[in-house]
Amino acid sequence: MAPVPSFPVKVGHIDDVQELRKARPTSIPERFVRDMAERPKHAATLVSASDIPIIDLCKLMKRDKDEHQSEAMQLKTACEEWGFFQVVNHGIDLSVLENIEKVAKDFFMLPLEEKKKYPMAPGTVQGYGQAFVFSENQKLDWCNMFALGVEPPCIRNPKLWPSKPADFRETLEVYSREIQKLCENLLKNIAVSLGLKGDVFEEMFGVAVQAVRMNYYPPCSRPDLVLGLSPHSDGSALTVLQQVKDSSVGLQILKDNTWVPVQPVPNALVINIGDTIEVLTNGKYKSVEHRAVTHKERDRLSIVTFYAPSYEIELGPMPELVDEKNPCRYRRYNHGEYSKHYVTNKLQGKRTLDFAKIESKTSA
Ligand code: OGA
Ligand code: NI
Repeated sequence: MAPVPSFPVKVGHIDDVQELRKARPTSIPERFVRDMAERPKHAATLVSASDIPIIDLCKLMKRDKDEHQSEAMQLKTACEEWGFFQVVNHGIDLSVLENIEKVAKDFFMLPLEEKKKYPMAPGTVQGYGQAFVFSENQKLDWCNMFALGVEPPCIRNPKLWPSKPADFRETLEVYSREIQKLCENLLKNIAVSLGLKGDVFEEMFGVAVQAVRMNYYPPCSRPDLVLGLSPHSDGSALTVLQQVKDSSVGLQILKDNTWVPVQPVPNALVINIGDTIEVLTNGKYKSVEHRAVTHKERDRLSIVTFYAPSYEIELGPMPELVDEKNPCRYRRYNHGEYSKHYVTNKLQGKRTLDFAKIESKTSA
């Protein structure tokens, strides 16, 4: 999560969605009502859950060659064709997942005055509030967010780490360590699936940056008019998303121009390829546009970790993935600059990646 933008930001009044819902359960202020084209109309009618690949990490780690190979193939297909998969048998203790769920829920259920002690300043992305709002006429997401930079410690803003619930900090630290190991492990397997050395990403990334965002989506009386979270791809290398147990279906990914819902699988973690891997692989593994929709009666909470290289590093397509048939599609750039570009622009599909594209500035 990058620094404060250097330009002044006027965002107008931003309703706290939980408070709005409490005070006026059926009111949808104009700023939340999406233009026709953006409304989640056909959302429910789509492809079945089983279409989003499920990767068994335990099988992937097996020494038995056949079992390993078949899972490795699935991982490769998942990265090439979906950019999204759910990982099961990931080795993270269930209690770690349950604990983070609990502190996140407890945090959002605190009185507004308490949460406001950790405000997300306009135009920034850490703290409690709505991120990616940069103007007074921008549509708002039906969501309250709480986001923190976690690793390395120098990106933390200690003033924003809440003192309530009491075990929040420690729980987040334990959780982040586990997610870090998972990301390292997945990146190794992803590298191998590309025919590269297993540790290529780890060596390149330096001290990886990890940030967490907790998204709380209150129920909405008109889910057909609003979005929980605007369409976007993630700027990270990998993103790990935990959907809280028994929550409604909310995450959707754009596949072949259709919004496909991601059905929560118990205890699985949803993984997606971020823009950084798209650039490094010269577009072989692409980041995929996704969004969140809301539910009429049920709330939803997700806990999202963004895993990315150190801000210091320069990156661009890896030479092994550039040849005559696959000409270089992205320029080299400093990752910190990309992060800054990402967090100082509103979410709009995959447009943020135009920053790095060489050929066409218009294609998504
Ligand atoms: C995100 C994200 C989706 C969700 O935070 O980047 O895509 O379901 N969240 O909360
Ligand atoms: Ni996302």
